[in-house]
Amino acid sequence: MALVNEIIGAFQLFAVVFLGGTAAYFMGRFGWWAILYFRGGSYRHQARAMRRARQIRRGWKALARLVDLAPLDKSKVGHAGPTTGQKGPVPRLYPSIKTTADEFSVKVQLKTVPGVSVTSVERAAEDLANAWQVQRVKVTSPKSGRILIRAYLREPLEAHIPSPLVARTPEGRWKLTVKPGSLSVDDPILWGITEDGDPVTSTFASSVHGLMAGATRSGKSIQANTLFTVASLTRNVRLVILDPNLAAVAPWWRTAYRVCDSTDPNDAAEILEEILEELEGRKDLFWKLRTDRITQFSDEVPLYVIPIDEAAAYTQSGDKKASERFTTVLKKLAAQSAKYGGRIWVLTQKPSSDVLSTVIRMNLTDRLCFRVDTIEDFVMAFSEGRNLSITAADRTMPQGVGIVSFGSAVPQRFRAVFLPTEACWDISDQLVDAGYGVRSLPGDEEQIRHLSLVHAEKEGEEAA
Ligand SMILES: Nc1ncnc2c1ncn2[C@@H]1O[C@H](COP(=O)(O)OP(=O)(O)OP(=O)(O)O)[C@@H](O)[C@H]1O
Ligand SMILES: [Mg+2]
Repeated sequence: MALVNEIIGAFQLFAVVFLGGTAAYFMGRFGWWAILYFRGGSYRHQARAMRRARQIRRGWKALARLVDLAPLDKSKVGHAGPTTGQKGPVPRLYPSIKTTADEFSVKVQLKTVPGVSVTSVERAAEDLANAWQVQRVKVTSPKSGRILIRAYLREPLEAHIPSPLVARTPEGRWKLTVKPGSLSVDDPILWGITEDGDPVTSTFASSVHGLMAGATRSGKSIQANTLFTVASLTRNVRLVILDPNLAAVAPWWRTAYRVCDSTDPNDAAEILEEILEELEGRKDLFWKLRTDRITQFSDEVPLYVIPIDEAAAYTQSGDKKASERFTTVLKKLAAQSAKYGGRIWVLTQKPSSDVLSTVIRMNLTDRLCFRVDTIEDFVMAFSEGRNLSITAADRTMPQGVGIVSFGSAVPQRFRAVFLPTEACWDISDQLVDAGYGVRSLPGDEEQIRHLSLVHAEKEGEEAA
């Protein structure tokens, strides 16, 4: 009897170990894939690119022969077979490949062989794209002897790029993925993705002032939401929002360091004058820090991030004197504040010189330009605009697609990250819950939240 029990016990033990082990094996092997697939979003795209990369590697030799990328090894022509003495088939030289995948493309790194050059790969580009079933391929040569073929499974400009700062909850709300105060001024801000699928980033510490231009409904506010959010989550940053329309500032009303929703340029100018005074008071720090530009920020020496929405309302108001006062202080801030720790971001539908004087515009070196109405507007944002092969004066340009250049970089087309205004309200709720609130909402809080939901719904309908 005891023996029977022992046998049963052994069987049970075996079953548990075997089944457990098998389950663990399959979880390990396929669990990750399950997560990749079911989380959706970029993971799904990356998984697809990884599959395609495998197919590309498998079919490479046959394809290389077909598209003339596997030349005959002429040094071996006429070699006789060892036993029969007959001439065997002439061997070929195959460029070896390595693949990596990202959420837009498969990168195929090719080691050249004699007879295979960038030109010959470019000649084969269309065939490669067809064989690999991709939208297009881009051929570059990162260093001699290497050719990079980037095969795009989807176009970055047509993609929807959700902001990594928030995640959607099952209830349809937005939850911060970043703890308030956990970002530093040296952390990269993700603005979008270039048409080649590379990230567009800058940091508060190393950048200067910026300009966001674009016709109505082109995507300025959605892009500015990233600026507001990052500024709100970064420690040692004071966010000062000037917004005569009470559109951009509303979600940040409770948490921004200073807000101005007045349409009177005098009110806006007053805030800027105070900040300018504080910043100029930092001159003495240059002696202490032995520098000509403050790049380290603290509680006592914070960085001011100052977005100005619809700047035209202040620079071109009916009250000429008030507008002049505003323009004067903005000019000074644009020219001097960067080194003391001020970052201005001007948002405007038209970047023309009557809205923004040339002196101001010259100092706004980071440029994000969404669709504009005329080539003149585009040239105001990018002075070299007429000589560029790309333009933002294009009626077919989708919302959220623009042209970007930070500092003196070559302008590139890009797709901005999507961070809707309803998400900003959820973010600001979370900031308030975390103790970052500094003022209460004017009027009924519930009412304003309701308004924001209605607004978001309208936006959603339009997007659909
Ligand atoms: N990056 C984006 N990705 C996807 N859709 C976007 C993106 N940016 C904007 N959109 C869509 O375009 C709409 C208008 O964008 P937005 O409100 O930013 O325009 P705007 O340039 O601020 O216009 P206005 O000058 O009238 O304030 C948004 O509601 C959204 O549906
Ligand atoms: Mg707007």
